[in-house]
Amino acid sequence: MNMAGEADPEDVELEAHLAEQEVFEPPASFVEQANVTDEDIYEEFEENWPECWEGAADLLSWDEGYDEVLDDSNPPFYEWFTDGKLNASYNCVDRHLEERGDEVALEWVGEPVEEENRSITYEELHEEVNEFAAALRDLGVGEDDVVTMYMPMIPELPVAMLACARIGAPHSVVFAGFSAEALATRLNAADSDYLVTCDGYYRRGDPLDHLGKTNEGLADADHDVDTVVVDRLGPNGDDFGHELGDDQYDYDDLVADHAGAEVEPVERDAEDMLFLMYTSGTTGQPKGVKHTTGGYLAWTAWTSQAVLDIKPEDTYFCAADIGWITGHSYIVYGPLALGTTSMMYEGTPDYPTRERLWQIIEEYEADQLYTAPTAIRSFMKWGEEYPANHDLSSLRLLGTVGEPINPRAWKWYYKHIGNEECPIVDTWWQTETGGHMVTTLPAVNDMKPGSAGPALPGLDVEIVDTNAEQVEPGRAGYLTVQKPWPGMLRTLYQNDERFIEEYWAEYSDTDSDDPEDWVYFPEDGAKIDDEDYITVLGRVDDVINVSGHRLGTMEIESAIVGVEGVAEAAVVGGEHDLKGEAVYAYVILEEGYDGDEEMRGRIVEGVEDAIGPIARPESVVFTPELPKTRSGKIMRRLLEDIANEAELGDTSTLQNPDIVGDIRDKVHSGD
Ligand code: WTA
Repeated sequence: MNMAGEADPEDVELEAHLAEQEVFEPPASFVEQANVTDEDIYEEFEENWPECWEGAADLLSWDEGYDEVLDDSNPPFYEWFTDGKLNASYNCVDRHLEERGDEVALEWVGEPVEEENRSITYEELHEEVNEFAAALRDLGVGEDDVVTMYMPMIPELPVAMLACARIGAPHSVVFAGFSAEALATRLNAADSDYLVTCDGYYRRGDPLDHLGKTNEGLADADHDVDTVVVDRLGPNGDDFGHELGDDQYDYDDLVADHAGAEVEPVERDAEDMLFLMYTSGTTGQPKGVKHTTGGYLAWTAWTSQAVLDIKPEDTYFCAADIGWITGHSYIVYGPLALGTTSMMYEGTPDYPTRERLWQIIEEYEADQLYTAPTAIRSFMKWGEEYPANHDLSSLRLLGTVGEPINPRAWKWYYKHIGNEECPIVDTWWQTETGGHMVTTLPAVNDMKPGSAGPALPGLDVEIVDTNAEQVEPGRAGYLTVQKPWPGMLRTLYQNDERFIEEYWAEYSDTDSDDPEDWVYFPEDGAKIDDEDYITVLGRVDDVINVSGHRLGTMEIESAIVGVEGVAEAAVVGGEHDLKGEAVYAYVILEEGYDGDEEMRGRIVEGVEDAIGPIARPESVVFTPELPKTRSGKIMRRLLEDIANEAELGDTSTLQNPDIVGDIRDKVHSGD
C-alpha cells in the first residue's frame, strides 16, 4: 500500500474491486424493530454538535446535571459533561432494581466440566456488589486507589469492577492469559496496592493454576499488594497446594463477613477516572489508557443501543474476554447501563465440541452475537454443519470487532449464523476510543462486506495523507479523528506528555489552544469510498493484531532479547489464515550459541513468560544479520514481506542487501 496517496497498481486494483463491491440491505424484519432508524441522524448530529451528545448523557442517571456538554478550552485535554455527578455502579445496577430487579443481569455459562451456571439477577448483583464494595473498603481501598484485577471470565470479575466503581476506586483489569511478569509491570505502573485474582480456572476441562502465576507476579512487584482470591476450583485446586499468605484474603469469606452490607454509591465527577486499561503501543512499556465516568459510560450506553441494538429485554452475547476493552465496554458497562441481560462464557468455542457456542445461543435464545473475525474464520474452517445443528433463529444482530474481516468470512457469518436475516455491524474502534467509532447503524446503512462503514453520527473521521490532506476515495491513507467525542481516553495514566506524543503530535499543531488544530491519530491505515464507507487496513505502527489481540512488537522483542544467548531480535506480523496476523521473530544469536530446537524452545518460553501464550512466535528464524537502512533502522517492511512471502520491494537503501535473500530462503525452507 502506498501511504503517500499516490496512484499505484494496488490502488487501481482496489478501485476495480470496490466498483464490484457487494451491498447488502438491512433486513426488513430488523429495521421494523430497531432502536435507531432515522437516517437524518447524521445531519442532525453534525448541525447540533456537540450538543448532539446530550442524548447519550440522557441514557444515564445523574446525581447532579452537567454544566457544559464539552469544555474544549485546553485541547487535547477535553472534558465532557463538566461538573456532572454520577456513579457507574448505580447506573449499571441500582437504577434497574425497581423495574428489572428479578431479571437476569449476568447470565454466566461456565466450562462444562464444572457446569454450575449462574443466572445473576439485578437484585443479586446489587447484593454481591454491595457486599464486596464493603469488603474492599474494609481492606482500606479508598476513592481513587487503583485496584488491579487478574481474573478470567468468572462472575466475580464484573462484580469486583462494579464494586470498585461504587466506591470510586478505578480498576485496572489485566487479561488472565497474560504472564506473571506482565501482571507485575502493570501493578507497578499503576502503583496499585490491591489485587483481586482467583485460585485457577478451567481450560478444556483441565484446571489451571492461576494463583501460582499471580504469586510469581506479586513477588516481582515493587511494593506490597493486598490480594483477594476467588475460589473458582474448589477441591479441584487442591493439587496446586497453595495456602493463602498473610496479606491474601478469601473472596467468599470477605463477602460472607459483609453479608447484607449496603454501600452508598460515591458521587463521582463526570471526569473522575472510572478505570485504567493497559494496552500495547510502539515502545516496550504498555500504555495506561485512562477512561472517565461520564463520557465513557454515556458512550458505551449510546453505542450499545444504537449499534448493537440492545434493549432491556434482550439476552445479549458478547464472546470477548472482559480482560480486553471489548469486554469492559460491551459485556459490562454498556449492556448493564441499559439494564439488559449480558452473557459471559468462561470456556472456549470448541470445548467439549465445536458446537458449544451454537448450543449456548440456542439454549439461552441469545438476541445478539458479538465476536471477532479470527473466531469466525475458525468456525468457517470447522464447517457449517456445527451451527446447522442448532436453532439460531433467536439471533437478531451479529457484530464483529478487533481486526478487519475479509468478505468471505463476512458472508459466511451472514449466511450460516445469521441466516441472511441479521445485519452485521463491523465495528472499528480501540481501547483508547472507549467504544465504537466506525460502523454502520444496522437499520440505517447498507452493509458492504470488508468495509466497516461510515463514521458514527457526530464523529468527524478523515482519511489523510502524510501532509494531512484528505486522500481520494479508494486510495490508502491514515485514519484520523478531527473532533473529540465523549468516550475518548483522557490521557495516559500520569503521562500527559506521552499522551500527546502518541496520539496527537503527528497531525496537530501542539502549540495551539484552538481545538481545530488538534487531530487524533489512532495509528491505523484506511481507505474511504465515495459513499464515505471506511475500509480499515490495519496498524501502521509497531503493533500487531494476533487473533484480535493487540500486541506490541517491541514488547516481544525485548522478551526475546532477554533470553540468554540472543544478541538482537526483530519481530513483525505475518499474515495468518486464522489468526489474522502471527508473530514472526528474526533472531541474531551471540557467538557460541546455536540456532537449534533448544534455543527456539527457550525463545518461545521467554516470550510466554514475559507476555503470555498469545504472543508465542509462529516462527523463529535465526539469521546472522538483519536488514537495516543506512541509518541503522531495521527494515520491518522487508521482514513483513518475507513473512508474507510477498514480492520484495526496493532494497537499494539497505546497508546489507544480501541478507534479505538469505532470510527469505530460511523462512521458506522452514529452517
Ligand atoms: C484493530 C479493540 C479493522 C485496529 C476494540 C485498532 C479493527 C485495533 C477493527 C484496536 C475493525 C479493531 N476493523 N480493524 N472492525 N476493530 N481493529 O485496542 O487496528 O484491542 O487500532 O481494541 O484493532 O485494538 P484494541
